[in-house]
Amino acid sequence: MVSLEVALRQMLVWHFSNIYMTPGRDHKMLLISNPRVCVIGAGIAGLTSAKHLQDEGIEFVVFESSRYVGGTWRYDPKVGTDENGLPIHTSMYKHLRTNLPKPTMEFKSFPVPEDMASFPTWKTYYEYIQDYTKHFDLEKHIKFLHKVILVSRVGNIWKVKYQNVLTNEEFDNEFDFVLVGTGHFSKPNMPNFLGEEKFSGSIIHSHDYREPDRYKNRRVLIVGAGPSGMDITMDVAYVSKTLIHSHHSKVPFRTKFPKHYLKKPDIKEFTETGVIFEDGSYEDVDDVIYCTGYEIYYPFLDKSCGLDITPRSIPHLYKYMVNINQPTMMFLGLIVRACLVVAIDTQSQYATAVIKGNFTLPSKEQMLEEWESRANVIRSKGRPFSDIHLLAEKEDEYYADLTKESGIDRVPPVMFNMRIKNMHMMLENLYTFRDYVYTVIDNENFSIQKYNESNHFS
Ligand SMILES: Cc1cc2nc3c(=O)[nH]c(=O)nc-3n(C[C@H](O)[C@H](O)[C@H](O)COP(=O)(O)OP(=O)(O)OC[C@H]3O[C@@H](n4cnc5c(N)ncnc54)[C@H](O)[C@@H]3O)c2cc1C
Ligand SMILES: *[C@@H]1O[C@H](CO)[C@@H](O)[C@H](O)[C@H]1NC(C)=O
Ligand SMILES: *[C@@H]1O[C@H](CO)[C@@H](O)[C@H](O)[C@H]1NC(C)=O
Ligand SMILES: *[C@@H]1O[C@H](CO)[C@@H](O)[C@H](O)[C@H]1NC(C)=O
Repeated sequence: MVSLEVALRQMLVWHFSNIYMTPGRDHKMLLISNPRVCVIGAGIAGLTSAKHLQDEGIEFVVFESSRYVGGTWRYDPKVGTDENGLPIHTSMYKHLRTNLPKPTMEFKSFPVPEDMASFPTWKTYYEYIQDYTKHFDLEKHIKFLHKVILVSRVGNIWKVKYQNVLTNEEFDNEFDFVLVGTGHFSKPNMPNFLGEEKFSGSIIHSHDYREPDRYKNRRVLIVGAGPSGMDITMDVAYVSKTLIHSHHSKVPFRTKFPKHYLKKPDIKEFTETGVIFEDGSYEDVDDVIYCTGYEIYYPFLDKSCGLDITPRSIPHLYKYMVNINQPTMMFLGLIVRACLVVAIDTQSQYATAVIKGNFTLPSKEQMLEEWESRANVIRSKGRPFSDIHLLAEKEDEYYADLTKESGIDRVPPVMFNMRIKNMHMMLENLYTFRDYVYTVIDNENFSIQKYNESNHFS
């Protein structure tokens, strides 16, 4: 008879052996000795994953439906569909400059260029992404023009169906892990107001906003006051005749807008020539831009993935990323209000550490507990459930947590500190918050200096 003590010791050896183990469906530990990893998307999530997986010598492939790296950072003057008939993914507009200072958008092991502007244009930042891809020789892992169309769980394996977007030929492959990095700023959330169909002017979503020229001397209505809403408002206000801004945001913006800017409450309904607002007032409008955000959209994830995806949230993600029902599937970048580049890079490292077997994820029950406690806070505050993806003031604590659990490098608190300072500068003045240079001093501290014309930042 095996004594309890011997049995326990064997369990411990099993638990701490170097062989990778992943919790299976019924919590038996399975062995994955040479894991094969499927990465979906070659934006920042896919590229940072490729970098870390490559460092660890893990076998993987990145599927990317376009012919480019960089995802949303690659500006495309076109809207609608691309040359292969696929929906255009990017939401980038011509005049975009980053809304975070460059040190908070730096990839690990790849410093942003010294001569890069403090808040670079999309073009400058996109070049930095391309340089990263070249420097670490990541392209060889990317299957461009291949779109993932179905991911399903069959037994203990991920079946991934993907399609060559030029020939429509379909392929099947099997993987042990799936990292989902397809972004969540691409599928417009359209509000659908009463009477929209009789409105004779133009209506677009910010996903299709590219440049202000067509709004010259026109009466433009912008709906929404998120980052895109505020930024596009200013871009359009430079040229438009009037700028009507409808929103219910309680964020205390202190920016002084130009004289032709008019703040309005929410829309009640459209007429043929304009809009009636909730307060009963009416304005003539030529063009409308909905800056009403994006839907969460993963059309390729089958029911067998064990997720109840809604347009606003994906429930049951441990640490904002691990699919609790199938922990060999992880989501990268499904978070808001953070230094997104740094956060995604960190999540990619964490995922790589899981795959490498550097640590073992907690049990399903423990992971659910972590998720439930976050969900309960949202419920008790009566907040919308989309807040489950919100990091905001928890950002630094999140980095500390990921490091504590996985042993990956700790993102220094200075990142969060700079983001918060930048947020205050933004609230103070949307026209000038980008005129400052942020310099990291140590793990916690940074300095901020008014932009110096003679420094010739690009
Ligand atoms: C207008 C705008 C401005 C922003 N400004 C900033 C900023 O200033 N600072 C900042 O830090 N962040 C900013 N962001 C956030 C930005 O989303 C992140 O910085 C980052 O680019 C997200 O990268 P990602 O890889 O998660 O997604 P994405 O960049 O969206 O990349 C996803 C990739 O997946 C591919 N793909 C999608 N579906 C499939 C499929 N089924 N099969 C294969 N491939 C697929 C797409 O083609 C795309 O290349 C901004 C976002 C937007 C939209
Ligand atoms: C995994 O652990 C090894 C050994 O400590 C370390 O060198 C490696 O960087 C870790 N990998 C990740 C992705 O954390
Ligand atoms: C940041 O600056 C403060 C005040 O000068 C100092 O006390 C602190 O030690 C600094 N932080 C680090 C990590 O050096
Ligand atoms: C501005 O930049 C120039 C050239 O680099 C430098 O000589 C000068 O001291 C800077 N001024 C300030 C206020 O930083």
